[in-house]
Amino acid sequence: MRRANTPPPVPRTRRTEGTRVRGRAERVVAAVHAATHEELGRVGYGALRVEDVAARSGVNKTTIYRRWPTKAELVAASLRAANEEQEQPDTGTLRGDLLVVVMRTVRTCKTPTGRGIVRMLQTERADPDVEALSRSLRDRRWQRNRALVERGITRGELPADVNPELLLDLILGGIYARLIHRGEDIREDYAAAAIDTVLAGACAGAARLPNESQQKEPREDDMTMQSNETRAQRDGNEDTRGTTKEAPVLGSVVLDRSDPAFLARSPEIYEEARAKGPVVRARHYPFPRDEEERKSIMAGERPVGEVLFVSHYEEAAGALLDDRLASDPFARMTPEQRAHVPPVPEELRPIAYSLLMLDPPDHTRLRKLVQPSFNARAMEALRPRIQRLTDDLLDKAERDAAARGESAPERRMDLVKAFAYPLPVTVISDMLGIPEEDRETVSRLGELRIDNRDPVVMQETRKMLVAFSHYLVDLFERKRRAPGDDMISQMIHAQEDGDKLNDKELLSMVFLLYLAGHVTTVNLIGNGVVALLTHPEQLARFKADPGLAKGVVEETLRYWGPVDYLGAVRTAREDLEIAGVSIPKGGQVMIGLGSANRDPEQFADPHAYDIGREGAHRHIAFGKGIHLCLGAPLARIEGQIAFETLFRRYPDLRLAVPAETLRWGGAAGLRGFRELPVLF
Ligand code: HEM
Repeated sequence: MRRANTPPPVPRTRRTEGTRVRGRAERVVAAVHAATHEELGRVGYGALRVEDVAARSGVNKTTIYRRWPTKAELVAASLRAANEEQEQPDTGTLRGDLLVVVMRTVRTCKTPTGRGIVRMLQTERADPDVEALSRSLRDRRWQRNRALVERGITRGELPADVNPELLLDLILGGIYARLIHRGEDIREDYAAAAIDTVLAGACAGAARLPNESQQKEPREDDMTMQSNETRAQRDGNEDTRGTTKEAPVLGSVVLDRSDPAFLARSPEIYEEARAKGPVVRARHYPFPRDEEERKSIMAGERPVGEVLFVSHYEEAAGALLDDRLASDPFARMTPEQRAHVPPVPEELRPIAYSLLMLDPPDHTRLRKLVQPSFNARAMEALRPRIQRLTDDLLDKAERDAAARGESAPERRMDLVKAFAYPLPVTVISDMLGIPEEDRETVSRLGELRIDNRDPVVMQETRKMLVAFSHYLVDLFERKRRAPGDDMISQMIHAQEDGDKLNDKELLSMVFLLYLAGHVTTVNLIGNGVVALLTHPEQLARFKADPGLAKGVVEETLRYWGPVDYLGAVRTAREDLEIAGVSIPKGGQVMIGLGSANRDPEQFADPHAYDIGREGAHRHIAFGKGIHLCLGAPLARIEGQIAFETLFRRYPDLRLAVPAETLRWGGAAGLRGFRELPVLF
């Protein structure tokens, strides 16, 4: 955070003087400003309640919603107005204003870092950690953030006189305040991701404002908002935002991540999609919702649906941040309509009710319960255990090879079976508290094989999922009687302690953590090893500098991320637009993570695998926004340790089969390899 040279003054704006009769729009903006300045320091913009704004401004909620359909838009309006209304446009003032907020927050904060910041703000002496973090974030992200802001200004999405540096400060301050309040460490990767999120959200929110100023016949008391017109409009430039267009059609291909042939071709398919536009209409096989659909699949008839596929990085990231797109597929339905939805099949219930499919407030409540188990400190504490497990698994592979009479460097192993699979399974089983003696059974039950083309596989998978649920319900009973020091026991405790999660939610949470905890990471490890082995120059670079393990992880996630596109399609809660394409209320949007991660506008030479790539970590392989992968810090540590250890111990590690014979096809429609024969 930059140091203020003078004590931070609170800005005096015409709004706060309150001497003249103000229009409705202005009153709302002033109320947002007041509310966020009281609340921002406490919990961030998320705390802004429209009821509160309505009460403060005397403007009813319906009117507010009509004009600013989302909180992001309200907040953007407030920031914009604050920027415009300063009597003396002085960048230091707004920053000072923010510092007041941060200061208010950290004063009440008991953490050492919080006290450090208080000291820094009060005495103008920087806390070295925070200062170093800010400097590093600024240096490394500065160019990108500046570009984002400048583009926002050029397009008229942000006010022409917004100061990019100031905006970055504002965001950093808000993030610090928020993290500190939540008692979390200020972790660089979290803060970095949060900066991108907030900034992209601010631009997206601001971008929608001009549409409102184009509304017909503004009322007299709304005139103050005319200052929201964009520079493009002022200059009389063409502005196409008011008009919407149909999404182009993406040929006859059917998106199907469970098909190895599709996964092999998908980088080309996505390229074609990107060339057509940021949003294309694509065919896909929807997940069977009821018995009828399942039967028709079993009979070899697969219904094909249509989705709007988001292919460009900027729009995909924006869609993940857009709270008008719900993860709950039934979000737009009335209770009556919901009642007519066929019941979710038993085996899919734990997934259907999981975090992935929930929207706030339920999502927020449940995520809060598990978030601390995955914070930086918890993950760092796991590092030695992950290293030990890695070494143990490789020792065992060596012993097995020796027993077969093989010696280095001609020993064989199936890297997936011997290493990439058991590593994350064991880590998540430890964390959850799955008893040692159950692990083999559980690991088999949790093997999520999804192959929509093969009815026998699907039947088997369904049976195993039901058995897995039954196993977990029984385990919860055992933990209730004899709790341990593990996540399941903690969740049961939380359940008994208050009405924090019901039985159905507990089952869903554990189910999701167990499955998500390993089916994805196995692919990160396998895909990274294959990427290195098929890019010898990158492998040589890595062997020469094992410190590049982080780069291997990030570039692998970008280049061959396990999740090609999100299985959980988003549903529009209201009519909206993405990149000028209209999405009707109830429309389904599929977000192409893999496509976004190869968008040349975001990543130069995107089809090259480059472990030293600057900014590779900006990939969205872990999603973005409120559903950002909970296990990302864990997966990153597991990946780093795996790559570093494998190539340190076995510099001669190589594929035991020609690379062309390897076939894509991880579990659950993920990009990965089921088998990976190597020599070591
Ligand atoms: C390389 C490994 C991984 C990848 C690529 C990955 C990818 C993702 C993605 C893309 C999402 C967002 C889904 C959406 O927005 O609909 C997600 C969510 C999630 N992931 Fe991961 N994941 C990985 C590892 C893990 C691990 C190790 C865990 C747990 C131990 C985990 C637990 C979760 C959970 C609980 C969510 C739901 C979060 C929410 O909805 O709030 N993941 N993951």
